[in-house]
Amino acid sequence: MSRHGLFLSFEGIDGSGKSTQARALADRLTAQGRDVVLTREPGGSAGAEEIRALVLQGDPDRWSAETELLLFTAARRDHLERTIRPALEAGNIVICDRFADSTRMYQGLSRGDLRAKVDALHDLMIGVDPDLTILIDMDPATGLSRAKSRNTKEERFENFGEGLQASMRAGFLELAEEFATRFRVIDGAGAPEVVAEDVWAAVSPHLP
Ligand code: TYD
Repeated sequence: MSRHGLFLSFEGIDGSGKSTQARALADRLTAQGRDVVLTREPGGSAGAEEIRALVLQGDPDRWSAETELLLFTAARRDHLERTIRPALEAGNIVICDRFADSTRMYQGLSRGDLRAKVDALHDLMIGVDPDLTILIDMDPATGLSRAKSRNTKEERFENFGEGLQASMRAGFLELAEEFATRFRVIDGAGAPEVVAEDVWAAVSPHLP
C-alpha cells in the first residue's frame, strides 16, 4: 500500500480514557496546522457505522462469536477502504480509536480462543496495522466504573464484568510485548493532562 501519512491507533479496556486521549492528540496536532483524521472502530465510515449498531446494541448473544468476528472485520474493511486508506494516501495523520488489536483481544479472547481465526481473517481482508499504537493501561475496576457511568445504549462488553476487563487488560499488555516495535504502553491512571503529555512524548518522535 502506498502510504504517505501516519497511522496511529489507541487501544485499551473500556473506560481507559483512550477516546479522550485520542481527541486531545488530534486537537494538539491540528493546532500545529497538521491534517488529522480522527476516527473510530467499530465505525468510521457510513457502512461501518451501520455495522456498529448491529454489534454494539441489542442482545449481545444474537451473534455467535464467529459471526461477530466477521461483522467487526467487515466494518474494518469498509472503514479502511473509505476512510483510512484515502486519508493516508492524501498524507494525513489518521488517529483511530481502536483498530485490529481490539479484535485480537475482544473477539480473540472473550468467547473462547479465536485468535487464530482473527489473525487469518486480518491477513486476508485487512493486511495493515498502525505505524504506532498507544495502549492506555488502566486498572479494570476503575475502567469499568467509568464505562458504566456513561449510560449509553452501547455496552457490548462492559456488561461482562470485571473478570473479563482484567483478562482484557492482561491480554493487551501481552499484545504490546508481541508487537513491541509499534506499541507504547501509557499509564492511564493520572489526570487526563498528565496522560496526554505521556502520549505526546510517545507520538512526537514519529511525526513527519
Ligand atoms: P468503544 O466505542 O471504543 O467503547 P469504549 O469507549 O467504551 O472503549 O468500543 C465499543 C466496544 O466495541 C468495546 O466494548 C470494544 C468492542 N470492540 C470489539 O469487540 N471488537 C473490535 O474489533 C472493536 C474495534 C471494538
